[in-house]
Amino acid sequence: MQQFLIKDLAKYEGQTITLQGWASNRRDSKGLYFIVLRDGTGWCQCVVSAESVSAEVFENCKQISLETSIEITGKIVKDEKQIGGFEVQAVDVKVIAVADEYPIAKKEHGVEFLMDKRHLWLRSQRQWSIMKIRNQIIFAIHKFFQSEGFVQMDAPLFTGNACEGTTNLFETEFYGDTAYLSQSGQLYGEAMAFAMGKIYTFGPTFRAEKSKTRRHLSEFWMIEPEMVFYDIYQNMDLIESFLRSVVTDVLENCSKELEFIGRDTSVLKNIVQEFPRLTYDEAVAIIKGEKDVNGKNSIKTLEADLAAVMAKIAEVNAVIAEREEKIKVPGMKKGEIGFNQAKIDKLKQELKDLEEESRNIPGWLESARNFTYGTDFGGSDETVLTRLFDVPVMVYNWPHEVKAFYLKRDPDNSHFARGVDVLAPEGYGEIVGGGERETDKDLLIGKINEHELPMEAFEWYLDLRRYGSVPHAGFGLGLERLVTWICKLPHVRESIPFPRMYGRLLP
Ligand code: 4AD
Ligand code: MG
Repeated sequence: MQQFLIKDLAKYEGQTITLQGWASNRRDSKGLYFIVLRDGTGWCQCVVSAESVSAEVFENCKQISLETSIEITGKIVKDEKQIGGFEVQAVDVKVIAVADEYPIAKKEHGVEFLMDKRHLWLRSQRQWSIMKIRNQIIFAIHKFFQSEGFVQMDAPLFTGNACEGTTNLFETEFYGDTAYLSQSGQLYGEAMAFAMGKIYTFGPTFRAEKSKTRRHLSEFWMIEPEMVFYDIYQNMDLIESFLRSVVTDVLENCSKELEFIGRDTSVLKNIVQEFPRLTYDEAVAIIKGEKDVNGKNSIKTLEADLAAVMAKIAEVNAVIAEREEKIKVPGMKKGEIGFNQAKIDKLKQELKDLEEESRNIPGWLESARNFTYGTDFGGSDETVLTRLFDVPVMVYNWPHEVKAFYLKRDPDNSHFARGVDVLAPEGYGEIVGGGERETDKDLLIGKINEHELPMEAFEWYLDLRRYGSVPHAGFGLGLERLVTWICKLPHVRESIPFPRMYGRLLP
């Protein structure tokens, strides 16, 4: 049997076809049911009229609760006002399975509640849109690397050595030996690049991040290209054209989804502009407010933002108070009370966000003022810096002590390592970490000792320096961090179907 899908309705205009899916909404009017059908490819309104279906079918529609699975046969009629631009005029409706009372109703739910119901929440239009964008990003990533001649290879997930420090390792057991869940496929990526030239891995990675932040997952997907005969500058060129290509692809192919989630795409469109490249020293001067950028000073901008947020809070509070007074006055119609109450609820939500900003900005200000030269950036520092930009920023040449053991020491200044972080604008922060790799075997051995890593687990890695060492570089992009920024999500947990993070193992 041919399957008809909501995304293809334009092809069937004027025809009578059968659609299968779930009722994501039902409204009743005299002699009419308005059912919004969802089939995984889209949403469309179906009108069931007592005049167009049998009495039995019409009676049956009464039991269609939210998320009841149904099959609707009807004529496809163009209607610009409706979601998707078409309406189905039903001639038959079959109920497949009546749904119990659906826990996710229309009213606002807290995020923790929705996370507990993640297996159902995924059906909502917003979550659906985010997952479609995630899918497009994944597709665009493969398209980019495949067309650039990279070979996709896979790194193991059980590993015997740490790649990114020992503090956030998930330890497990492997036939009696201690093993770790992979934090990064990079070390294997280097070995594979020496066999294939240019490779990329794309797999899950694990980090025990024992704190709740809006950027950290315990299990996330990373894309890690590794290229032989590349230095840090070629690496940065590649990162830039890669990110530009992925964001452009999403803009071209996900306009509907971006609109559904209310993403203002103007910042994303800036992706065609050159990404600023700042040395660590320059970035620190900007964070501390010692150097202006784009006509802005970090400290002054934060102070102005805080003042603006405080003023906005006062304004919203005043509007809420005014409406609350209004609905107290006797004699107001029920509909009008409902309308005002909905406005009040919306304003209260806005207020919550503003209050969070008002709590955050002083913290950012403090960390910007007190940043100690020579240390790594924390989340606040990245936020302070990237709020000043509307394109991704690359920060390179980091103090070698704060970065991973495998990064190449800068030949021009041995205090620095040739690492690069890419920070997404709008306060999002790090989405890519990478760099040129150390080729000097003795420096590497020194670093492995300094980091107190077990040398025997790295012997195979040192072989890459023993047998035909060459300059090489690579990077790692955190998929969920990119999805979060592209969709402008408040938290990384909405960027992956089933997030695993501190305090969250179910569903
Ligand atoms: O900067 P990181 O730690 O770099 C590496 O793992 C390198 N070995 C990559 C390479 O050069 N091949 O991690 C890379 C990226 C980060 O920029 C961030 O986007 C993401 O991985 N990431 C996380 N995403 C979500 N949750 C976490 N806990 C993450 N930790 C890192
Ligand atoms: Mg990093």
